[in-house]
Amino acid sequence: MNILITGSNGQLGNEMRVASKHYPRHQYFFTDVVEATGVQILDITDRKAVAAFIAKNGIELIVNCAAYTNVDKAEEDEATAMKINADALGVLGSQGVKVIHVSTDYVFSGDEHIPCRESDPVSPRTVYGRTKLQGEKMLLAACPEAVILRTAWLYSSFGNNFVKTMIRLGREKEQLGVVFDQIGTPTYAADLAEAIFTVIESPVWHAGVYHFTNEGVCSWYDFTKAIHELAGIRDCRVFPILSEEYQYKTPRPHYSVLDKSKYKKTFGVEIPYWKDSLERCIKLLD
Ligand SMILES: NC(=O)c1ccc[n+]([C@@H]2O[C@H](COP(=O)([O-])OP(=O)(O)OC[C@H]3O[C@@H](n4cnc5c(N)ncnc54)[C@H](OP(=O)(O)O)[C@@H]3O)[C@@H](O)[C@H]2O)c1
Repeated sequence: MNILITGSNGQLGNEMRVASKHYPRHQYFFTDVVEATGVQILDITDRKAVAAFIAKNGIELIVNCAAYTNVDKAEEDEATAMKINADALGVLGSQGVKVIHVSTDYVFSGDEHIPCRESDPVSPRTVYGRTKLQGEKMLLAACPEAVILRTAWLYSSFGNNFVKTMIRLGREKEQLGVVFDQIGTPTYAADLAEAIFTVIESPVWHAGVYHFTNEGVCSWYDFTKAIHELAGIRDCRVFPILSEEYQYKTPRPHYSVLDKSKYKKTFGVEIPYWKDSLERCIKLLD
């Protein structure tokens, strides 16, 4: 199959490039807005360029890893976030090919206390969440056969993320306050890439919305403690603080655990525990 991967310079896009080596029978076209080794330029908001690329390369499946992911900046630049996270999904969905797209726990309010299912009511509290929800709707309107994987707390050995920031701060500072009243599940982008390949390789195409994160739950405080333990950082005291003490620019969900039962049952797979995956990622950073 000829597969177009968008956003290939990002965390997930890079992990797709790594994972694709395990599935050599497909031909891959890695793209992003910025050119890189093995990555061609393709702006997903450019309808003409997308259509031309798909026709020229005989693309049969799009895996959309491109997004506007800066939650704070999105509050000040809703128009750009909407263009990339929502309007572009209308573009990708109307090409007459299969689409796998990635969305977010931010489509939920985060006010619940039990893991969210795909059928639970959505109620985004941020511009980022609203634009991602609108993207889901635009994609499903244009391409009802699309697969959408909602994920959360993504990290990788590629790009900037919470894991790398906490390792850096742990080595620089003697103490660090980290919020303990936001609960979620860290997700290794390498595991999400593998989950995408599970969808691709499935003998039957299972259209629909699915939740995918690693297994287990923790707070950002617990996550940081685990990061420092696994990275061998012992000289930084990590202590728990409340969200109100951190003074976020944009509200963050207090509880954004996703229920992954539908994904596991549909595709017949188990998902790694977050701490085991974190260990695999940190080994790559050494
Ligand atoms: N990161 C998280 O914690 C998290 C949590 C839940 C869900 N998600 C979702 O997971 C997916 C992957 O996230 P990620 O962390 O891998 O994102 P990322 O690292 O920010 O990568 C996104 C990539 O898309 C590129 N891009 C931006 N606008 C584009 C456009 N118009 N056309 C083509 N490419 C464009 C970005 O380029 P520039 O950097 O140059 O803009 C970047 O290389 C996204 O859908 C995101 O919403 C992420």
